[in-house]
Amino acid sequence: MSFRIAILISGSGSNMEAIIQASQEGILQGLCEVVTVVSNKPSAQGLTKAHNQGIPSVCIQSKDKSREAFELELLNYLKLFRVDYVILAGFMRVLTSFFIGHFPKKIINIHPADTLKFQGVGGYEWAFNKNLKQTKITVHYIDSGVDTGAIIAQAVVGLSDCKTLEAVKHRGLAIEHRLYKEALASVFSEQKKQICVAF
Ligand code: GRF
Repeated sequence: MSFRIAILISGSGSNMEAIIQASQEGILQGLCEVVTVVSNKPSAQGLTKAHNQGIPSVCIQSKDKSREAFELELLNYLKLFRVDYVILAGFMRVLTSFFIGHFPKKIINIHPADTLKFQGVGGYEWAFNKNLKQTKITVHYIDSGVDTGAIIAQAVVGLSDCKTLEAVKHRGLAIEHRLYKEALASVFSEQKKQICVAF
C-alpha cells in the first residue's frame, strides 16, 4: 500500500519538490503518492512547480477568512482526495485543533531550527543573529501548539563557515530536503508494518 499525501505550502516549495521527486523515483517510492498540493497564498511559486509535475494543485486562500472557514474549506477539499497524511512544507498558517482532530498523528511539519530551542517563524534568522556554530532542523508531528509536537527526526546544520544569512539558508535547506524525505520514509514504512501486522 502507498499512503495518499497532501502537501500544504505557502511559498517556494523546495521541500515539496524534494518529496514529490522522492515519491516518484526515490526513497518514498511505493510508500506514498502526492495526490494534491494546496497553497493558502496565490503567489506561492510552489503551485506552478506542482502543476508542472502534473499534480492537482490549488490555492485555497486563507486571507480575510476566519480560521474555521478556511479550515473547513481545506478539509472538504482534502476529503475529495482521500488523504491519509497532511505534510506541511513551508505552510505559514497555524492549524487549530478542529483541523488537527481530523488527522490525528497524521500531520507532519519541517521546522528550520531545534523546536526545543526556537519556535515560530524565522529559524535561520535566529541562528544567524545568535552567531550559532550549528543549528538543527526538526521534523515533527503537529499538535495544537506552535512547533511543540513530538519530534520525529533532527539533523545538525554546521554553520561555522556561513558568513551570510543567505549561506545559512542555503546550507539548511539542502539538509531539510534530505531529512524530510528520510523522516517521512521512516514514518510511512513503520505505519505500513503496523497495518500489515493488524491484518
Ligand atoms: C523551510 O525552511 C521550512 O523549514 C520552513 O519554511 C521553509 C519552506 O521552504 N517551514 P520551501 O518552501 O520548502 O522552499
